[in-house]
Amino acid sequence: MLYQAAMDLNVKVRILTGDANSAAAQVCPDYVVDDWNNETALRRFATGCEVVTFDHELVDTRVLRSVEAGRCTLRPAASSMQKVLDKASQRRLVRELHMPTPDYLLASDRDALQAAVLRFGYPAVMKATRGGYDGRGVHVLSGDEDLNAWSDLPSEWLVEPLLPIERELAVQVVRGVDGELRTYPVVETYQSGGICRSVVAPAIVPPELADTVRRFAEAIAESCGIVGVLAVEFFVVGGELMVNELAPRVHNTAHYTVEACAVSQFENHVRAVLGWPLGPTDLVVPAAVMTNVIAGPDPLRPLSEIRPFPPVRVHLYGKQTRAGRKVGHVTACGDDAARLRQTADRVAAMLVGESEAVPSGAPSDRSQGVRA
Ligand SMILES: Nc1ncnc2c1ncn2[C@@H]1O[C@H](COP(=O)(O)OP(=O)(O)O)[C@@H](O)[C@H]1O
Ligand SMILES: [Mg+2]
Repeated sequence: MLYQAAMDLNVKVRILTGDANSAAAQVCPDYVVDDWNNETALRRFATGCEVVTFDHELVDTRVLRSVEAGRCTLRPAASSMQKVLDKASQRRLVRELHMPTPDYLLASDRDALQAAVLRFGYPAVMKATRGGYDGRGVHVLSGDEDLNAWSDLPSEWLVEPLLPIERELAVQVVRGVDGELRTYPVVETYQSGGICRSVVAPAIVPPELADTVRRFAEAIAESCGIVGVLAVEFFVVGGELMVNELAPRVHNTAHYTVEACAVSQFENHVRAVLGWPLGPTDLVVPAAVMTNVIAGPDPLRPLSEIRPFPPVRVHLYGKQTRAGRKVGHVTACGDDAARLRQTADRVAAMLVGESEAVPSGAPSDRSQGVRA
Protein backbone atom coordinates (compact mmCIF):
# COMPACT_ATOMS: atom_id res chain seq x y z
CA MET A 1 0.00 0.00 0.00
CA LEU A 2 2.97 2.30 0.62
CA TYR A 3 4.28 1.37 -2.79
CA GLN A 4 0.94 2.12 -4.42
CA ALA A 5 0.91 5.57 -2.80
CA ALA A 6 4.51 6.22 -3.90
CA MET A 7 3.69 5.17 -7.45
CA ASP A 8 0.92 7.78 -7.64
CA LEU A 9 3.48 10.42 -6.71
CA ASN A 10 5.93 9.17 -9.35
CA VAL A 11 8.40 8.15 -6.67
CA LYS A 12 10.62 5.21 -7.60
CA VAL A 13 10.57 2.47 -4.99
CA ARG A 14 12.88 -0.47 -4.35
CA ILE A 15 11.79 -2.99 -1.75
CA LEU A 16 13.97 -5.11 0.53
CA THR A 17 12.00 -8.19 1.46
CA GLY A 18 12.79 -11.53 3.02
CA ASP A 19 10.40 -13.33 0.70
CA ALA A 20 9.91 -13.10 -3.07
CA ASN A 21 6.25 -14.02 -2.55
CA SER A 22 5.58 -11.20 -0.09
CA ALA A 23 2.68 -8.88 -0.85
CA ALA A 24 5.14 -6.03 -1.56
CA ALA A 25 7.18 -8.10 -4.04
CA GLN A 26 3.98 -8.99 -5.90
CA VAL A 27 3.25 -5.36 -6.72
CA CYS A 28 6.68 -3.75 -6.91
CA PRO A 29 8.85 -5.05 -9.75
CA ASP A 30 12.05 -3.64 -8.24
CA TYR A 31 12.62 -5.78 -5.17
CA VAL A 32 15.62 -7.41 -3.52
CA VAL A 33 15.32 -10.58 -1.45
CA ASP A 34 17.80 -10.32 1.40
CA ASP A 35 18.13 -10.14 5.18
CA TRP A 36 17.37 -6.63 6.45
CA ASN A 37 19.16 -7.41 9.70
CA ASN A 38 22.39 -8.23 7.92
CA GLU A 39 24.53 -5.11 7.92
CA THR A 40 26.21 -5.75 4.57
CA ALA A 41 22.91 -6.58 2.88
CA LEU A 42 21.17 -3.51 4.28
CA ARG A 43 24.09 -1.25 3.39
CA ARG A 44 24.19 -2.64 -0.16
CA PHE A 45 20.47 -2.04 -0.51
CA ALA A 46 20.54 1.43 1.06
CA THR A 47 23.44 2.64 -1.09
CA GLY A 48 21.21 2.86 -4.15
CA CYS A 49 18.46 4.78 -2.32
CA GLU A 50 17.99 8.45 -1.55
CA VAL A 51 16.06 7.49 1.57
CA VAL A 52 15.18 4.22 3.30
CA THR A 53 12.01 3.71 5.34
CA PHE A 54 10.33 0.76 7.08
CA ASP A 55 6.96 -0.95 7.10
CA HIS A 56 7.70 -3.02 10.20
CA GLU A 57 9.90 -2.68 13.26
CA LEU A 58 11.55 -6.11 13.33
CA VAL A 59 14.91 -4.46 12.81
CA ASP A 60 18.11 -4.37 14.82
CA THR A 61 19.03 -0.83 15.89
CA ARG A 62 22.77 -1.65 15.96
CA VAL A 63 22.53 -2.54 12.28
CA LEU A 64 20.50 0.62 11.58
CA ARG A 65 23.05 2.82 13.41
CA SER A 66 25.94 1.40 11.51
CA VAL A 67 24.20 1.75 8.14
CA GLU A 68 23.29 5.31 9.05
CA ALA A 69 26.90 6.05 9.99
CA GLY A 70 27.78 4.94 6.44
CA ARG A 71 25.84 8.02 5.21
CA CYS A 72 22.61 6.27 4.29
CA THR A 73 19.51 8.27 5.15
CA LEU A 74 17.05 6.33 7.27
CA ARG A 75 13.64 7.83 8.03
CA PRO A 76 12.71 7.36 10.80
CA ALA A 77 16.34 7.65 11.99
CA ALA A 78 17.95 4.85 14.02
CA SER A 79 17.74 7.04 17.15
CA SER A 80 13.94 7.39 16.74
CA MET A 81 13.49 3.69 15.99
CA GLN A 82 15.46 2.78 19.10
CA LYS A 83 13.05 4.68 21.36
CA VAL A 84 9.95 2.88 20.10
CA LEU A 85 11.22 -0.43 18.77
CA ASP A 86 10.16 -2.73 21.58
CA LYS A 87 7.41 -2.69 24.19
CA ALA A 88 9.89 -2.00 27.04
CA SER A 89 11.40 1.13 25.41
CA GLN A 90 7.92 2.32 24.41
CA ARG A 91 6.66 2.15 27.97
CA ARG A 92 9.84 3.83 29.28
CA LEU A 93 9.39 6.70 26.85
CA VAL A 94 5.71 7.13 27.71
CA ARG A 95 6.48 7.14 31.44
CA GLU A 96 9.26 9.71 30.94
CA LEU A 97 6.61 11.90 29.33
CA HIS A 98 4.42 11.42 32.45
CA MET A 99 1.62 9.77 30.53
CA PRO A 100 -0.39 6.95 32.12
CA THR A 101 0.36 3.35 31.07
CA PRO A 102 -0.79 0.09 32.62
CA ASP A 103 1.30 -0.86 35.66
CA TYR A 104 3.98 -3.29 34.44
CA LEU A 105 7.21 -5.09 35.24
CA LEU A 106 9.86 -6.52 32.94
CA ALA A 107 10.93 -10.14 33.30
CA SER A 108 13.86 -11.89 31.63
CA ASP A 109 13.89 -15.02 33.76
CA ARG A 110 11.50 -17.30 35.56
CA ASP A 111 12.11 -15.69 39.02
CA ALA A 112 11.31 -12.23 37.70
CA LEU A 113 8.17 -13.57 36.01
CA GLN A 114 7.04 -15.14 39.29
CA ALA A 115 7.78 -11.92 41.20
CA ALA A 116 5.70 -9.94 38.68
CA VAL A 117 2.80 -12.35 39.00
CA LEU A 118 3.03 -12.13 42.80
CA ARG A 119 2.84 -8.37 42.55
CA PHE A 120 -0.14 -8.21 40.14
CA GLY A 121 -1.90 -11.48 40.98
CA TYR A 122 -3.87 -13.59 38.49
CA PRO A 123 -4.95 -13.09 35.81
CA ALA A 124 -1.84 -11.40 34.46
CA VAL A 125 -0.72 -10.79 30.89
CA MET A 126 2.80 -11.43 29.62
CA LYS A 127 3.91 -9.92 26.33
CA ALA A 128 7.14 -10.51 24.41
CA THR A 129 8.83 -7.11 24.29
CA ARG A 130 9.97 -7.78 20.71
CA GLY A 131 8.68 -9.59 17.67
CA GLY A 132 5.02 -9.93 18.73
CA TYR A 133 2.08 -8.61 16.74
CA ASP A 134 -1.63 -9.32 16.38
CA GLY A 135 -1.66 -10.89 19.83
CA ARG A 136 1.16 -13.31 18.92
CA GLY A 137 3.53 -13.08 21.86
CA VAL A 138 0.71 -12.09 24.26
CA HIS A 139 -0.29 -14.72 26.85
CA VAL A 140 -2.72 -14.67 29.75
CA LEU A 141 -1.57 -16.31 32.98
CA SER A 142 -4.74 -17.37 34.79
CA GLY A 143 -3.20 -19.47 37.54
CA ASP A 144 -0.13 -21.40 38.72
CA GLU A 145 -0.57 -23.94 35.94
CA ASP A 146 -0.02 -21.28 33.30
CA LEU A 147 2.96 -19.87 35.20
CA ASN A 148 4.53 -23.30 35.64
CA ALA A 149 4.42 -23.84 31.87
CA TRP A 150 7.23 -21.26 31.72
CA SER A 151 10.23 -23.02 33.20
CA ASP A 152 12.53 -20.74 31.26
CA LEU A 153 12.02 -17.40 29.50
CA PRO A 154 13.52 -17.27 26.01
CA SER A 155 13.49 -13.46 25.86
CA GLU A 156 12.36 -10.34 27.70
CA TRP A 157 8.69 -10.04 28.67
CA LEU A 158 6.49 -7.23 29.84
CA VAL A 159 4.12 -8.40 32.57
CA GLU A 160 0.99 -6.51 33.61
CA PRO A 161 -2.44 -7.16 35.09
CA LEU A 162 -5.24 -8.34 32.79
CA LEU A 163 -7.21 -5.11 32.70
CA PRO A 164 -10.98 -4.66 32.45
CA ILE A 165 -10.65 -2.64 29.22
CA GLU A 166 -13.76 -0.60 28.37
CA ARG A 167 -12.62 0.66 25.00
CA GLU A 168 -9.53 0.67 22.81
CA LEU A 169 -8.64 3.81 20.88
CA ALA A 170 -5.88 4.59 18.42
CA VAL A 171 -4.51 7.60 16.60
CA GLN A 172 -1.80 8.20 14.02
CA VAL A 173 0.49 11.18 13.77
CA VAL A 174 2.62 12.00 10.77
CA ARG A 175 5.70 14.15 11.29
CA GLY A 176 7.77 15.74 8.54
CA VAL A 177 11.53 16.26 8.35
CA ASP A 178 11.02 19.90 9.40
CA GLY A 179 8.85 18.90 12.38
CA GLU A 180 5.50 19.63 10.68
CA LEU A 181 2.84 17.53 12.46
CA ARG A 182 -0.49 16.26 11.17
CA THR A 183 -2.81 14.04 13.17
CA TYR A 184 -5.53 11.72 11.89
CA PRO A 185 -8.90 11.44 13.65
CA VAL A 186 -9.07 9.34 16.81
CA VAL A 187 -10.49 5.88 16.03
CA GLU A 188 -12.03 3.11 18.11
CA THR A 189 -10.63 -0.37 17.59
CA TYR A 190 -12.29 -3.71 18.30
CA GLN A 191 -10.18 -6.80 18.91
CA SER A 192 -10.80 -10.43 19.57
CA GLY A 193 -8.16 -13.03 20.26
CA GLY A 194 -5.62 -10.19 20.46
CA ILE A 195 -6.19 -9.29 16.77
CA CYS A 196 -7.72 -6.05 15.61
CA ARG A 197 -10.98 -6.97 13.85
CA SER A 198 -12.48 -3.56 13.04
CA VAL A 199 -11.71 0.13 13.28
CA VAL A 200 -14.39 2.81 13.49
CA ALA A 201 -13.58 6.40 12.48
CA PRO A 202 -14.17 8.77 14.08
CA ALA A 203 -14.38 7.31 17.59
CA ILE A 204 -17.45 8.66 19.36
CA VAL A 205 -15.74 9.94 22.50
CA PRO A 206 -16.01 13.13 24.57
CA PRO A 207 -14.04 15.93 22.84
CA GLU A 208 -11.69 16.33 25.85
CA LEU A 209 -10.75 12.65 25.65
CA ALA A 210 -10.07 12.92 21.90
CA ASP A 211 -7.95 16.02 22.57
CA THR A 212 -5.89 14.19 25.17
CA VAL A 213 -5.37 11.23 22.81
CA ARG A 214 -4.11 13.57 20.08
CA ARG A 215 -1.98 15.63 22.48
CA PHE A 216 -0.30 12.49 23.88
CA ALA A 217 0.42 11.08 20.42
CA GLU A 218 1.84 14.38 19.17
CA ALA A 219 4.08 14.73 22.24
CA ILE A 220 5.37 11.16 21.75
CA ALA A 221 6.08 11.84 18.05
CA GLU A 222 7.96 15.04 18.95
CA SER A 223 9.93 13.46 21.73
CA CYS A 224 11.25 10.59 19.62
CA GLY A 225 11.77 12.83 16.60
CA ILE A 226 9.92 10.42 14.34
CA VAL A 227 9.77 11.16 10.63
CA GLY A 228 6.79 9.46 8.98
CA VAL A 229 3.74 7.89 10.59
CA LEU A 230 3.63 6.95 14.27
CA ALA A 231 0.60 5.02 15.56
CA VAL A 232 -0.38 5.05 19.23
CA GLU A 233 -2.77 2.52 20.81
CA PHE A 234 -4.70 3.34 23.98
CA PHE A 235 -6.83 1.51 26.54
CA VAL A 236 -9.67 3.15 28.44
CA VAL A 237 -9.94 1.52 31.87
CA GLY A 238 -12.29 2.88 34.55
CA GLY A 239 -12.79 5.96 32.38
CA GLU A 240 -9.00 6.61 32.42
CA LEU A 241 -6.85 6.75 29.32
CA MET A 242 -3.65 4.65 29.22
CA VAL A 243 -1.05 4.39 26.47
CA ASN A 244 -0.61 0.72 25.52
CA GLU A 245 1.63 0.56 22.48
CA LEU A 246 3.48 2.57 19.81
CA ALA A 247 4.34 1.67 16.22
CA PRO A 248 6.81 3.73 14.14
CA ARG A 249 5.18 3.00 10.79
CA VAL A 250 1.99 2.99 8.77
CA HIS A 251 -0.53 1.03 10.77
CA ASN A 252 -3.55 -1.24 10.37
CA THR A 253 -5.69 1.16 12.43
CA ALA A 254 -5.28 3.78 9.67
CA HIS A 255 -5.94 1.67 6.57
CA TYR A 256 -9.36 3.35 6.44
CA THR A 257 -7.60 6.65 5.56
CA VAL A 258 -7.20 5.50 1.93
CA GLU A 259 -10.92 6.02 1.27
CA ALA A 260 -11.94 8.24 4.16
CA CYS A 261 -9.29 10.96 4.55
CA ALA A 262 -8.11 13.77 2.30
CA VAL A 263 -4.61 12.24 2.15
CA SER A 264 -3.99 8.65 3.25
CA GLN A 265 -1.46 7.55 5.86
CA PHE A 266 0.50 5.89 3.05
CA GLU A 267 0.83 9.04 0.95
CA ASN A 268 1.65 11.11 4.01
CA HIS A 269 4.33 8.64 5.08
CA VAL A 270 5.94 8.88 1.65
CA ARG A 271 5.67 12.68 1.74
CA ALA A 272 7.20 12.82 5.23
CA VAL A 273 10.21 10.60 4.55
CA LEU A 274 10.99 12.48 1.32
CA GLY A 275 10.92 15.82 3.17
CA TRP A 276 7.85 17.02 1.24
CA PRO A 277 5.01 19.08 2.69
CA LEU A 278 2.36 16.89 4.32
CA GLY A 279 -1.23 16.59 3.16
CA PRO A 280 -4.43 17.20 5.17
CA THR A 281 -5.53 14.36 7.44
CA ASP A 282 -9.22 15.32 7.75
CA LEU A 283 -12.05 12.88 7.19
CA VAL A 284 -13.84 13.53 3.89
CA VAL A 285 -16.81 11.31 4.84
CA PRO A 286 -18.99 11.40 7.97
CA ALA A 287 -17.83 7.96 9.13
CA ALA A 288 -15.76 4.99 7.99
CA VAL A 289 -15.29 1.42 9.17
CA MET A 290 -12.40 -0.85 8.27
CA THR A 291 -12.73 -4.57 8.94
CA ASN A 292 -9.78 -6.91 8.52
CA VAL A 293 -10.15 -10.02 6.41
CA ILE A 294 -8.73 -12.63 8.77
CA ALA A 295 -8.20 -15.99 7.12
CA GLY A 296 -9.97 -19.07 8.41
CA PRO A 297 -9.04 -22.65 7.59
CA ASP A 298 -10.12 -22.38 3.93
CA PRO A 299 -8.81 -20.34 0.99
CA LEU A 300 -10.55 -17.03 0.31
CA ARG A 301 -13.74 -17.13 -1.71
CA PRO A 302 -13.26 -15.65 -5.16
CA LEU A 303 -14.31 -12.03 -5.22
CA SER A 304 -16.33 -12.75 -8.36
CA GLU A 305 -18.74 -14.83 -6.25
CA ILE A 306 -19.47 -11.98 -3.91
CA ARG A 307 -22.10 -9.43 -4.73
CA PRO A 308 -20.72 -5.94 -4.44
CA PHE A 309 -21.94 -3.93 -1.48
CA PRO A 310 -22.00 -0.31 -2.66
CA PRO A 311 -20.21 1.44 0.19
CA VAL A 312 -17.49 -1.22 0.55
CA ARG A 313 -14.00 -1.24 -0.96
CA VAL A 314 -12.06 -4.49 -0.82
CA HIS A 315 -8.26 -4.73 -0.49
CA LEU A 316 -6.71 -8.20 -0.73
CA TYR A 317 -2.98 -8.55 -0.18
CA GLY A 318 -2.21 -11.68 -2.22
CA LYS A 319 -0.89 -13.41 0.92
CA GLN A 320 -1.03 -17.17 1.46
CA THR A 321 -4.02 -17.82 3.71
CA ARG A 322 -3.23 -19.23 7.13
CA ALA A 323 -5.79 -19.37 9.93
CA GLY A 324 -5.66 -16.15 11.93
CA ARG A 325 -3.59 -14.24 9.35
CA LYS A 326 -4.69 -10.81 8.11
CA VAL A 327 -4.92 -11.24 4.36
CA GLY A 328 -6.85 -8.12 3.41
CA HIS A 329 -9.31 -5.53 4.63
CA VAL A 330 -12.56 -3.91 3.58
CA THR A 331 -13.54 -0.31 4.14
CA ALA A 332 -17.06 1.12 4.19
CA CYS A 333 -17.76 4.86 4.21
CA GLY A 334 -21.07 6.61 4.89
CA ASP A 335 -23.21 8.18 7.59
CA ASP A 336 -24.12 5.51 10.07
CA ALA A 337 -21.10 3.84 11.70
CA ALA A 338 -23.13 0.98 13.21
CA ARG A 339 -24.57 0.01 9.82
CA LEU A 340 -21.24 0.46 8.08
CA ARG A 341 -19.69 -1.90 10.58
CA GLN A 342 -22.32 -4.54 9.94
CA THR A 343 -21.75 -4.26 6.20
CA ALA A 344 -17.94 -4.30 6.41
CA ASP A 345 -17.98 -7.23 8.86
CA ARG A 346 -20.38 -9.11 6.59
CA VAL A 347 -18.24 -8.69 3.47
CA ALA A 348 -15.08 -9.69 5.39
CA ALA A 349 -16.91 -12.76 6.74
CA MET A 350 -18.14 -13.71 3.26
CA LEU A 351 -14.63 -13.49 1.85
CA VAL A 352 -13.34 -16.03 4.36
CA GLY A 353 -16.27 -18.33 3.65
CA GLU A 354 -18.36 -17.65 6.73
CA SER A 355 -21.87 -17.19 5.44
CA GLU A 356 -22.97 -15.29 8.50
CA ALA A 357 -21.46 -11.98 9.48
CA VAL A 358 -19.64 -11.52 12.78
CA PRO A 359 -22.27 -9.74 14.88
CA SER A 360 -21.24 -6.13 15.51
CA GLY A 361 -20.49 -5.19 19.09
CA ALA A 362 -20.73 -8.79 20.29
CA PRO A 363 -19.62 -9.16 23.92
CA SER A 364 -16.72 -11.34 22.75
CA ASP A 365 -15.16 -8.20 21.26
CA ARG A 366 -14.19 -7.12 24.74
CA SER A 367 -13.98 -10.25 26.80
CA GLN A 368 -11.63 -12.08 24.45
CA GLY A 369 -9.12 -9.29 24.11
CA VAL A 370 -6.18 -11.65 24.45
CA ARG A 371 -5.48 -15.27 23.68
CA ALA A 372 -5.77 -17.61 26.62
N1 LIG B 1 -3.12 -5.84 30.07
C1 LIG B 1 -4.10 -6.20 29.24
N2 LIG B 1 -5.33 -6.47 29.71
C2 LIG B 1 -6.34 -6.84 28.87
N3 LIG B 1 -6.20 -6.98 27.54
C3 LIG B 1 -4.98 -6.73 27.01
C4 LIG B 1 -3.88 -6.31 27.83
N4 LIG B 1 -2.80 -6.13 27.02
C5 LIG B 1 -3.21 -6.38 25.77
N5 LIG B 1 -4.52 -6.74 25.75
C6 LIG B 1 -5.32 -7.06 24.53
O1 LIG B 1 -4.49 -7.70 23.58
C7 LIG B 1 -4.37 -6.90 22.40
C8 LIG B 1 -2.95 -7.03 21.85
O2 LIG B 1 -2.02 -6.57 22.83
P1 LIG B 1 -0.91 -5.49 22.48
O3 LIG B 1 -0.26 -5.08 23.76
O4 LIG B 1 -1.50 -4.39 21.68
O5 LIG B 1 0.13 -6.36 21.65
P2 LIG B 1 0.30 -6.62 20.06
O6 LIG B 1 -0.63 -5.66 19.35
O7 LIG B 1 1.73 -6.32 19.83
O8 LIG B 1 -0.05 -8.06 19.85
C9 LIG B 1 -4.74 -5.50 22.86
O9 LIG B 1 -5.21 -4.72 21.79
C10 LIG B 1 -5.82 -5.79 23.88
O10 LIG B 1 -7.06 -6.10 23.25
MG1 LIG C 1 -1.40 -3.77 19.73
